[in-house]
Amino acid sequence: MGRRTAEPPISWLMRIKLERPRLISLAAGFTDSPTLPVAGSRRLLNELLGDATLGQAALQYGSTAGDDTLRKLTARRIRQLDGSPRGQAGSYEARRTVISHGSQQFLYMATEALCDPGDIVLVEDPTYFVYLGIMQSRGVAGRGVRMTRDGIDLGHLEQVLESLKRDGSLPRLKILYLVSYHQNPTSRSTSLRVKAGALELLRRYEHAAGHPIYLMEDAAYRELGFAGKPAPSALAVKGAVDRVIYLGTYSKPFATGVRVGFGILPEELLTPVLRIKGNHDFGTSNLPQQLVSRSLASGLYEKNLARVQRRYRAKAKAMTDAMGEHLPESAQWEQPEGGLNVWAAMPRKVNTGMKSNFFKKVLDRNVLYVPGGLCYVDDPTRAKPGHEMRLSFGAATEDEIREGIRRLGQAI
Ligand SMILES: Cc1ncc(COP(=O)(O)O)c(C=O)c1O
Repeated sequence: MGRRTAEPPISWLMRIKLERPRLISLAAGFTDSPTLPVAGSRRLLNELLGDATLGQAALQYGSTAGDDTLRKLTARRIRQLDGSPRGQAGSYEARRTVISHGSQQFLYMATEALCDPGDIVLVEDPTYFVYLGIMQSRGVAGRGVRMTRDGIDLGHLEQVLESLKRDGSLPRLKILYLVSYHQNPTSRSTSLRVKAGALELLRRYEHAAGHPIYLMEDAAYRELGFAGKPAPSALAVKGAVDRVIYLGTYSKPFATGVRVGFGILPEELLTPVLRIKGNHDFGTSNLPQQLVSRSLASGLYEKNLARVQRRYRAKAKAMTDAMGEHLPESAQWEQPEGGLNVWAAMPRKVNTGMKSNFFKKVLDRNVLYVPGGLCYVDDPTRAKPGHEMRLSFGAATEDEIREGIRRLGQAI
């Protein structure tokens, strides 16, 4: 596995920013530093560490599944965000809620639990490129499902499932992975209709697969919306609780440095994932869990989140305004309603890849973007588009965003 694992592009993208302090990075997904809740966290940590008993508990190892209060608060929060669907309390049980070291760890654990080398995961085309690294490392093959404005194209999902059935590889299919809110990289969101339709299709092919096929819903950007009304999660689809792996995070909406994430798991996966988590680290760091738990209970979380959303709305606007001003007519993009990214397409003849002349010209101007090609899974049934890029407005200031886009326009 060590020999097989390729260097994750995320490591390179983050390192180059540290090596070139003057670089305007519109690439790696750092978040907005000025909105990190420093003063509020100081107050909560002082409270916690000001009490010997609470302080000792917070500085001690915790349990494998995570802090019980945080598990309860998390399950309740997701239920509320879903509009508390009637009669479906069972979909949001604290007992099946497991705290992880960022949702990234959960992506890894769920894949480890379900996939052997040679197995197959279906992903959006394009998808979160760091997840593709997990698949590559674990020897998991992928197929891309085309996207529409409101999530994956269900017609194409059916075609892919049918072709796997025809060539006998359906028994290797384990997961459909969707980044369902303000997707990384496209910023599109998946409607409830598409989530329900996808679950229905997966069920239909389970008999031929010989086992459950799970929908892994990655809701990392769910709370970073600044326009429109977000759809409920797949957990709100009736009868879906035994097939949905719901993943969330407190990194993006609260503080990336605390790196606390979580998953709500189907019953059947709870024991395997807890065993794997036991082998990984037998529990997420306790102190950051206590901080998140107190920030939720005290209202700091909600208050800060409103600031975070306002800030990203302004930064997204700064970016798309600058794109309108500096990029040629032939460049295309959509106005994001949340998340951290703008997905931009150049004319097809422009190669935006990491080894391209274009990438080098942009980097020579001290600007970094994520080449779109990185976000496409290796899928033998189609060529990877190479003319797109992901531009993040997460970390850069508004001035840097405007200047970065101006230089990008010059390079084009
Ligand atoms: C779509 C998506 N999922 C998961 C993660 C992991 O975030 P964390 O481990 O901080 O929760 C990220 C981080 O960028 C992401 O973009």
